[in-house]
Amino acid sequence: MSSTVKKTGHKASSKPRKSAAVDTTPAVEIIVSEAVAGAHVTNAQLIERRNAAVPRGVASAAPIYAKYAENAELWDVDGNRFIDFVGGIGVLNTGHRHPKVVEAAKAQEDHYTHTSFQVVPYEPYIELAEKLNAIAPGDAPKKTLLVTTGAEAVENAVKIARAATGRPGVIAFTGGYHGRTLLTLGMTGKVSPYKKDVGPFPADVFRAPFPSARDGITVDDAIIGLKNLFLTDAQPSRVACMIIEPVLGEGGYTPVPFEMMQQLRAICDEHGILLIADEVQAGFGRTGTWFAVEHSGVVPDLITVAKSMAGGYPLAGVIGRADLMDAMEPGGLGGTYGGNPVACAAALAAIKAIEDEGLLARSTKMGEMLKARFAEIGARSAPYRFWDIRGLGAMVAVEFVTDFVSAKPDADFTKRVIAHALKRGLLLLSCGMHGNALRVMVPLTASDAIVEEGLAIFEVAVNAAIAEEV
Ligand SMILES: Cc1ncc(COP(=O)(O)O)c(C=O)c1O
Repeated sequence: MSSTVKKTGHKASSKPRKSAAVDTTPAVEIIVSEAVAGAHVTNAQLIERRNAAVPRGVASAAPIYAKYAENAELWDVDGNRFIDFVGGIGVLNTGHRHPKVVEAAKAQEDHYTHTSFQVVPYEPYIELAEKLNAIAPGDAPKKTLLVTTGAEAVENAVKIARAATGRPGVIAFTGGYHGRTLLTLGMTGKVSPYKKDVGPFPADVFRAPFPSARDGITVDDAIIGLKNLFLTDAQPSRVACMIIEPVLGEGGYTPVPFEMMQQLRAICDEHGILLIADEVQAGFGRTGTWFAVEHSGVVPDLITVAKSMAGGYPLAGVIGRADLMDAMEPGGLGGTYGGNPVACAAALAAIKAIEDEGLLARSTKMGEMLKARFAEIGARSAPYRFWDIRGLGAMVAVEFVTDFVSAKPDADFTKRVIAHALKRGLLLLSCGMHGNALRVMVPLTASDAIVEEGLAIFEVAVNAAIAEEV
């Protein structure tokens, strides 16, 4: 690893924590003390222990073990520093350990950490529900259910849709990712590695095509495919809901064309089908608006949320029209941990940070900068490899191919870029149906300087991956 923290208990960075948008957060010095630099355990030791104790099915993208993290930087147990373009898979739009988020969580911990909302309820859950109801698109009165994971949110959205419509069917899209539980796997539109060897999946889940430039599927084709699905497999009057990510996450950071989203809304209205926007990855400012669906002007019936909502704490939810959300009997929704009070306090602080620090506008600006810089880097280093640079706001990905003529997806090249970047201190993660896209989930609170530093490492990594081939 190239950038190593000195091991004598001094500062890794004396810079104050700064949002490049509006710097309202207090200065925090990162003191790399014994806790970080004088590590007792090494990456190598942890790899060995992990292999013995944790199933291989829980894969980890990077062979490093976290010790300390701050905003868009992370240090491993060996004292190496990384710029974090992954943010715990899109969870950290407000950065690692945002001071206001940490402060709110600590304050909540001094009162109570768990009572179960279904036994003794508490205000942070209600306050967060009120806030989410207020920021979600649409004028109809709304209600919010809080749960713990994205998959759980999706499962509950389907339950609510079924209870509200009295219909069983669910339509999901090619390349969509909705989780790893059995129902959500049935909805997830990618076999390997998620669905391999673990079927059968629940019945009454149907798949419609997602537009794809690579496969020559236009919006019109996708809509025809959906209408054909109604003729061949999915009786529309038996379909409860249609779920779509406004920007495919795991599927490759491809935005749903706005006209497609508008047509889906019209088709849902025609058949009494509920439209669910899965905003687990795209929500909370990643695309420059609170929710990515807002770009299309479409108001969904239900929205699933998680990840960056709570700035690093496990929390998820379903926001929806009040009449639909009330469809289930008391006791039909919930779970022991759903809407944990510490996570709710963290979420309220994270949402406030997004507002106070202008992170929606920051996301738009960062997205423009990322796209421009990727285009420059591609032109300089390997124009024939950068097949596509796409996204919405700061939800941006670069797709790599072997060459421009065949446009063959190059997952191997992508892996090697990631490995070279890691060696040089940058964390990256792939996505896409063919594993050949790199997605950027860098905190929106990261300064331009940190993002540029990461991009410079990315360019070196691309060049190193190319150099290996000659
Ligand atoms: C769009 C989307 N929906 C659902 C999920 C599942 O969330 P979780 O991993 O918290 O279960 C994810 C996770 O990446 C996601 O990106």
